[in-house]
Amino acid sequence: MRITINQIKEMKQKGEKIPMLTAYDYLTAKIVDRAGIPLILIGDSLGMVMLGYESTLPVTMADMIHHTRAVVRGAQKALIVADMPFMSFQASDTDAMYNAGRLIQEGGAQAVKLEGGVVVEGLVKRMVDCGIPVMGHIGLTPQSVHQLGGYKVQGKTREAAQRLLKDAEALDRAGAFVIILECIPAPLSRLITERVSVPTIGIGAGVGCDGQVQVVSDMLGLDPDFVPKHAKQYTHLSTVADEALKGFISEVQAGSFPTMKQSYVMDEGLLEGL
Ligand code: KIV
Repeated sequence: MRITINQIKEMKQKGEKIPMLTAYDYLTAKIVDRAGIPLILIGDSLGMVMLGYESTLPVTMADMIHHTRAVVRGAQKALIVADMPFMSFQASDTDAMYNAGRLIQEGGAQAVKLEGGVVVEGLVKRMVDCGIPVMGHIGLTPQSVHQLGGYKVQGKTREAAQRLLKDAEALDRAGAFVIILECIPAPLSRLITERVSVPTIGIGAGVGCDGQVQVVSDMLGLDPDFVPKHAKQYTHLSTVADEALKGFISEVQAGSFPTMKQSYVMDEGLLEGL
């Protein structure tokens, strides 16, 4: 049985902190699910992490569905949330409903995530009324990178803080089951968390949120060239991989790989006279 949105919401009531990770493929989803992470996000960050783009903007619905299906096959227990990519929900509510439906129907996700606050309140309400669980996302919303003028901490002035508070309240009213707070000063995240009824899950938003989300490749230390301030590397898999690859290269060059352990045998007599 998969975790439900009600179980996630109850975690806030019980004061249980919620760990959440991204995953973009079958094998990583399997590892994350085995660890007991209750919420897995197929973030549009896959544009950078998996596809090497400079931003999330080129990510398409086809990309999202492809990766969501792989994650759903890998994770049996976690609640799977698929991100709505740039321009899959902004142009019209009709497009948005249709695309959210595709992530659930074709991708196999149990919920969708979309960026924005007050501006998407009506849309989120419509989705929720139609039976599609929605995760909100405010603060640094990477799909608006050009409008924001870069990847910057949000809510640092009194006016900006008030706007974010209103955004969070709008998502809460609309029925979002979780609100992601990205790159928001810790005291403001704490205030938002106190004001809304649903769990907040932070990334670069301090310890006062109801949960924390990390991009899986950041916390596993897979990319030594990119370590954002809000990421903590719990291991350094790129170093482990470098060592393993060096070992493979030198054993192939030395002729010490494969050994009989990795080889198949046969009756060599059968080869006589061939
Ligand atoms: O795309 C993503 O990975 C995200 C998380 C950072 C919340 O939106």
